[in-house]
Amino acid sequence: KNTGVLEDPGDKEFGNKQISNLTKSNLIEEIHFEDDELPNEKVKFAPKCEVTLKDAQSAIFRAKSEACKQEIADTACKHQEKMLLPKSMNRRCPHENKFAFDAPMPASFSESLRPVRICFMLVVHGRAFRQFKRLLRVIYHRDHFYYIHVDKRSDYLFREIKKVIKQYPNVVVAPWRMATIWGGSSLLQMLLRSMSDVLRLWTKWDFFINLSALDFPIESDEKLINFLATYRDKNFMKSHGRDDEKFIRKQGLNRLFVECEQHMWRLGERDLPEGIIVNGGSDWVALNREICEYAIRGKDDLLTDLKHWYKYTLLPAESFFHTLVQNSEKCESFVDNNLRVTNWNRARGCKCQYKHIVDWCGCSPNDFYPSDLGRLQTSRPVFFARKFEEIINQEVVNHLDFKIYGKYPSGTPGLNSYWESCYDHADGASSVGDSFLTHYSSFARLGLKEINSHLTKNNPQPDACQLHVDRILQVEMHKQREQFMGYIVTVETTWRSLTERKDNVEISDPDKSVQMQVFVSPQSTLRITDKSSELASRLEGAAVGTNWDVKELTLRDWGGIIGPNSDVHLVARWRRAEEDFVVTVVAIDPLNVVSDYNDFRTPAKAAGVTETPLSLRKPMRPGKWTIRFYVQRQFNNICAEINFFVAPLEFVASLPGGASLSVDNMGIVDDTTVNAASRNLYTMRTTLNLKKDERAAEKLVLNSKYTAGPKLQSWVDDVIVLAWTAKEYCTVAESPAEWTEKQPKSCYSQRQITPSRCADVSWSSFSPDPKSELGRVKSNGRIR
Ligand code: UDX
Repeated sequence: KNTGVLEDPGDKEFGNKQISNLTKSNLIEEIHFEDDELPNEKVKFAPKCEVTLKDAQSAIFRAKSEACKQEIADTACKHQEKMLLPKSMNRRCPHENKFAFDAPMPASFSESLRPVRICFMLVVHGRAFRQFKRLLRVIYHRDHFYYIHVDKRSDYLFREIKKVIKQYPNVVVAPWRMATIWGGSSLLQMLLRSMSDVLRLWTKWDFFINLSALDFPIESDEKLINFLATYRDKNFMKSHGRDDEKFIRKQGLNRLFVECEQHMWRLGERDLPEGIIVNGGSDWVALNREICEYAIRGKDDLLTDLKHWYKYTLLPAESFFHTLVQNSEKCESFVDNNLRVTNWNRARGCKCQYKHIVDWCGCSPNDFYPSDLGRLQTSRPVFFARKFEEIINQEVVNHLDFKIYGKYPSGTPGLNSYWESCYDHADGASSVGDSFLTHYSSFARLGLKEINSHLTKNNPQPDACQLHVDRILQVEMHKQREQFMGYIVTVETTWRSLTERKDNVEISDPDKSVQMQVFVSPQSTLRITDKSSELASRLEGAAVGTNWDVKELTLRDWGGIIGPNSDVHLVARWRRAEEDFVVTVVAIDPLNVVSDYNDFRTPAKAAGVTETPLSLRKPMRPGKWTIRFYVQRQFNNICAEINFFVAPLEFVASLPGGASLSVDNMGIVDDTTVNAASRNLYTMRTTLNLKKDERAAEKLVLNSKYTAGPKLQSWVDDVIVLAWTAKEYCTVAESPAEWTEKQPKSCYSQRQITPSRCADVSWSSFSPDPKSELGRVKSNGRIR
């Protein structure tokens, strides 16, 4: 029954090495984990039995690789033969029922408490590097330890974190990385592997606390230390608050899952093991060293059986430690409190948003806004909360940061600014979609055009003395006071006169390259055309974009990055009003052809957000689109309008060339479309009676001949410049002297404008951001 038992991978790698040999500096050399999930191309799918489980059949059908199909079939076969999972397990807790120790906040802390040292396990993914730094900055203490697992797919974050933590001996990034998918079995495997590492790496910690990058402290570290020191033999985990059976069903614990191809496949039903109490709730825990030692080094059958069972379990980290502690000899250490507050709003967080990753409808907590702060008042002791996203709301993070550690001195820069990377050249062009790459390249060109027009204003030799883009290094989104301000594109540029042409390829002298940043901001296109309509008093704002977040009710392609193949969403924000009404939105393409319409009701008796998907035939015609708002189907009165812009693609599959935009597939000739039939567009077209813009059609036919090169680029730029302004720029050069030195002598003129230094410009990501900088450790052991 122990086949396939989840082994502690750390054991294999560390062998009999002495704990004392492991230090931060030699850790990277010491751990050489193999990549865990490269698909085994040699496997030829050959099921060893007839798979009869319906879910497993579906999983095999949907899985792509032979290796994954094989793994699913092998697991299903063993399960059908009742050879996969143990029927019963041995409960070792002396109590018959669930046990929970009550650990309230003491009225005061004893002076004689021996302080605890914490090992923080940071489980991170995504690109929010500044937020990560800010979290580490506030939780850092010289006496604690920090181990960081970065999702295998988050290369940018991994690179940046590695660079920035070099200065701290007690902060280590796991050199191995797993693709830890949401709800995946891999999350528990990663936690156990990390736990094994930190037990070997550091002998002095007392508690293991896992945090994600979206967690934030709500109490001081001193208070946490005193609290844990009071209860040092306890383990802190939050149990579900409903009846056990419902929890087990909702959590899918009575189903068998297998993870491969970065997906949790549901294979069928399973019985719960007899003899133990299966418990669970939140996967954010605070475990003492003793239970961690047991979880990693224990050899008894309860532990090995549970590790095996949880390998086939959805959201295993939400239940493994609970069940282990509840059924072990240490059950009396169980405290039903994970010391955190999670911001659940199930109406918004349970929209099956992970069904492309897990065969289940999972829920996620929401981001905190200042209006949610009341939730932090709890009767149980709590020290952390989740989730926070500075990209969504920074004010709430500021509030907590300042409350716990005090305000920054007045005049401190950057306190209401946020930057987050959207693209990094080191990830390669294929790390972002074609439409994003097209926009970023155009942003760089538009920015350089602006720079050059300034630089050459007073210059006698303008042509040779222009900068041109060698490559885009970085693209960052920038917010100030919760408002999206625009994108910052960092470009490596060279002076034209320093560029040689060889075999028609431009070769620049890298020593003479200059890094510049350009700031590209969106232009608002919402117009209220009838100020007296009921819509005018309710519509607060509207936006069109592609990356709709169902949980946070926001478009995450900030400012709208739209290409011919994008899914387009219209999002409108409404003020509160007693009466609700029907709004009809009509999408009109660049040739003035009605392309879709949709009806919806404004929120009733409340402020709110509506999201309307537009079902537009793809590829969409590049150019300026208009959405008209009508109220109560009165089509003779346009109440408001908003534009959005579909940029032709400069890249296809990350390579230059917008070849997919042929005249035919843009439907330039033909307006009778599937959409037209399904949405009854003909009626709407007759009602609005718009005249097709034949000149625009001719121009489109002409433009669509360009499938690469400067003419395609200039078509792209002509569209993008309608939506975005590139007015500001700065140089990354340290000083005016450095700037001048890089310039060709023949170009230099006294009258020339020297660009501002990025470090001095408030929108620039090089400007100071002390709230998320990881500086030197102060005499009190802290960074913040
Ligand atoms: C919620 C619960 O809080 C959590 O207990 C449960 O495991 C999943 O549902 P949610 O906010 O939905 O959490 O998950 P998220 O924070 O996105 O992910 C959980 C952890 O997995 C984080 O540490 C996150 O960094 C990590 N993760 C998630 C990855 O490493 N890669 C991913 O692709 C997704």
